[in-house]
Amino acid sequence: MDANGGATVTKAAGAPRRRPRRAGKLPGRQDWSSWPHYQAAAAGFRGYWYPVCYSSQLTGKPKQITLLGEKIVLIRDDGTAYALKDRCPHRGVPLSEGNQQFPGTISCPYHGWTFDLATGELKAVITDGPESPICGKVTQPTYEVAERLGMVWVFVGDGEDAPPIDEQLPEELVGNAAVVGSRIQPRIGNWRFACENGYDEGHAKYLHRTSLWRLFKAMPVWNETRIVQRGRWIYRVQDKQYWTADFPGLGKWDNQSWFKLKPPKQTSNIGNTGSHREVNPVIAAQEFPGFASVSMPGVLRIAYPTFIHYEFYVPVDAENHLYVGVMADFRKGWRTLPFYLKYLGFVRWLFHGQFSAQDKWMVEVTDAPPERLYRPDESLLKWRKLAEDVTEERTERLKADGFEPAGPPVES
Ligand code: FES
Ligand SMILES: [Fe+2]
Repeated sequence: MDANGGATVTKAAGAPRRRPRRAGKLPGRQDWSSWPHYQAAAAGFRGYWYPVCYSSQLTGKPKQITLLGEKIVLIRDDGTAYALKDRCPHRGVPLSEGNQQFPGTISCPYHGWTFDLATGELKAVITDGPESPICGKVTQPTYEVAERLGMVWVFVGDGEDAPPIDEQLPEELVGNAAVVGSRIQPRIGNWRFACENGYDEGHAKYLHRTSLWRLFKAMPVWNETRIVQRGRWIYRVQDKQYWTADFPGLGKWDNQSWFKLKPPKQTSNIGNTGSHREVNPVIAAQEFPGFASVSMPGVLRIAYPTFIHYEFYVPVDAENHLYVGVMADFRKGWRTLPFYLKYLGFVRWLFHGQFSAQDKWMVEVTDAPPERLYRPDESLLKWRKLAEDVTEERTERLKADGFEPAGPPVES
């Protein structure tokens, strides 16, 4: 008899024997209806700026992107980036298949309808002569565009004016000199799985324990974590880390090895594995309550002592997203040189590459709901609640201002 008074146990001493569960309805949460806005946002949340490509990739040659399920044509004219709906109102041909016949415009390849890039106004119809009566009667929808961090950002809203992009960027990236390295990668899977994976408390120490980026670092087995909100961000605050654990009836398990550094004696909330390097003054000045934070519309921030890593999960449509990884080092002048060596030498490959590929793999194979959440998933619950609350506020505000929030076109 074991301590629980159960029958003789051979494999799992201490655990009462249970009848095996047979296949049937999956247990747990069946849908995300407790967060209706979040559930409906399969193709993304409207009302935000999203990074879509590198600035250097945008030229006078029209480029088609898909963002929140919408086809958009991007083009650069006289140094400025523009974005319009990529469907000619005449017969539905993509404007991105056309080109420029006059400065400041784009012409559809089919019959030469020619739209002003800034206003979307139909300025000329080449095949109907200079006096074409339809001119001035048709306006192509446009999108606001900005360029930051070496990337082109597009605002997708419901007709309202875009808020200044600097209000949406992580605060420390506005007004501090920083050198950034980034990676933009189209990935399969819903953007919410990517965001939830990024902020997920439980996975890193298990999934990434084999990554080269973490090869020599000890990783905890599990943590005691709280989620704390400050402003528009929620933070994971680690109260306690357990570097080894004894699982009843199974044995001891840890992430340690002879070739790994020993677990630190003390840990801080900057950097998750507790290194005690001097913290960069810009990062220290933020006084982040926790090293991992997330904000709308799916921006992850991981603060390390000498740099900050960001991930932007950009909804392409309900099944695809763009992974935009950005690493920022708050230095200037010649002091930025070591960053380039470090970033191009290994961070780009190990962190934005192989480490992140493990996340990519999980996001591709995640299939939820149904889901049966566990204690560390408090991080997911708080993120969904944040998304829900912020979206509810925005919806109310737009309605009060006379707009009709469209909601995403595809529901999951
Ligand atoms: S379809 Fe675009 S001009 Fe005719
Ligand atoms: Fe991860």
